[in-house]
Amino acid sequence: TFNRVTIPVVVHIVLPDPAQVTDEQILDQLASLNLDYIAQNTDVAQVPAVWQALTGNPEIQFCLAARTPDGDPTNGITRTVSNRTFPIDNAGAEVKYAGTGGVDAWDSDRYLNVWVCELRDNYLGVATFPQLYVPEEQGVVVHFRAFGSSGSARPPFNLGRTLTHEIGHFFNLYHIWGNTDSNTCTDDDNVADTPPQGEQNYDCPNGVLTDNCSPAAPGLMYMNYMDYVNDACMHFFTSGQTDRMRTALETQRASLMF
Ligand code: ARG
Ligand code: ZN
Ligand code: CA
Repeated sequence: TFNRVTIPVVVHIVLPDPAQVTDEQILDQLASLNLDYIAQNTDVAQVPAVWQALTGNPEIQFCLAARTPDGDPTNGITRTVSNRTFPIDNAGAEVKYAGTGGVDAWDSDRYLNVWVCELRDNYLGVATFPQLYVPEEQGVVVHFRAFGSSGSARPPFNLGRTLTHEIGHFFNLYHIWGNTDSNTCTDDDNVADTPPQGEQNYDCPNGVLTDNCSPAAPGLMYMNYMDYVNDACMHFFTSGQTDRMRTALETQRASLMF
């Protein structure tokens, strides 16, 4: 088990009407994120019995920043009027600069930056892995329709799980099927306790699901946060994923820990 740590977060709302993502919606997103990152979400009980003992507890909590980079009091939320629909190229770089219709990051060594905007092509979110991209671009981007549980959030991505998933990437987790969509069983997530898997799963599967990489029961771990199923159908990180996240946190992202 790990020491519980807290990470300061700044949420940047970048929309034509940035008031449409309310403070309440931001708070409900933080609340569900915090439950997921201590494995206290109620649906963790829906993890199949065979994998219950693998449930990991990252012991990471997230709080809205109380001080700006200059030391002034803040609620940890910025709002920027922008009519842009942003591409996910380069981990969503364009939303991260005022010059391209976004808003500049707060010092990414001190804050986890979360940009909420309209993304192109129905992407739900994108994140920077540790050691890729410059400090000014570190953080995660979430589509305003897939952020939080109220307000602008829309089913089936309205339980805050896009942020849970993206922060998994931010702490070095790959998708559960690996890094490509190639349906090869050698392309892996480098986590020992997640079963091999060829491709992503969508919607809300139930029962034992198999493929050519995990052809026998218990089959695919499609209810993992790092698959692509609906928010209501993803329930946990494994302990192997949790170890990998904590390693990233305590090495490449250590300056964020309190
Ligand atoms: N497609 C996105 C990504 O690869 C996020 C998927 C999140 N899924 C969800 N049910 N919210 O980063
Ligand atoms: Zn992803
Ligand atoms: Ca694995």
